[in-house]
Amino acid sequence: MPLLQHALDTDLERLALDLIVPSLLDQGFFYVDNFLGELVGHFVLDQVKELHSSGVLQDGQLAGPDRSCGISKRNIRGDKIAWVSGVERGCEAINILLTLIDKLVTHCIGRLGKSIIRERSKAMVACYPGNGTGYVKHVDNPNADGRCVTCIYYLNKNWNAEEHGGILRIFPEGKSYVADVEPLFDRLLFFWSDRRNPHEVLPSYATRYAVTVWYFDSEERAEAKRRFRDLTASTQDQDRRTMKNCDL
Ligand code: OGA
Ligand code: MN
Repeated sequence: MPLLQHALDTDLERLALDLIVPSLLDQGFFYVDNFLGELVGHFVLDQVKELHSSGVLQDGQLAGPDRSCGISKRNIRGDKIAWVSGVERGCEAINILLTLIDKLVTHCIGRLGKSIIRERSKAMVACYPGNGTGYVKHVDNPNADGRCVTCIYYLNKNWNAEEHGGILRIFPEGKSYVADVEPLFDRLLFFWSDRRNPHEVLPSYATRYAVTVWYFDSEERAEAKRRFRDLTASTQDQDRRTMKNCDL
């Protein structure tokens, strides 16, 4: 392995083993600053800005049935998003980011309790446009959909939380404190995606960019897929029965 790559890999391994794993096990979240450095971080930011200005980002969706009872979705989550795999043209820097995060997470495998991580979601590129919207308190994975670790990379230069808001507030389950994470440029955050970490994005008064990926626990993910398949099958059965009734 080339020397530089070896040094980088050793750094990633140390970061994973010395900081990420113990913090996740102990407090349920962890963040590190200056993850990519100024140059590469900027490269990612420019590509995210380009996705935004070219109109690729769309209103974020809500999971599950719409239970908002007439409340505008924008009051629940006000971000605009796009899902990217990293191989798309114009996503080369995002791909570098994803490759490095994957390497980090690979070093954590087998050390995060019983979770076995083998895959992740695509990357969600998100922008809160700065019109005072945020994301109300929620749990990313309340019902065992397979998501195990949430990982967010923030991209906001000269962010001043007092003026611009946009803080990510985590309410660790069973704890009397909250953890406020400012969405600062080149900051990488990890937290458990399940009910251990309800969190909200406070209203944002400046354009706020982030890239998020979710790592899956293999077993929970497989089970969730089975459930989904069964559900879809039974819905189809039901549809067939209803159709038959209509025929009568
Ligand atoms: C989410 C979310 C937090 C953030 O998209 O589910 O909670 O800080 N985002 O952007
Ligand atoms: Mn969330």
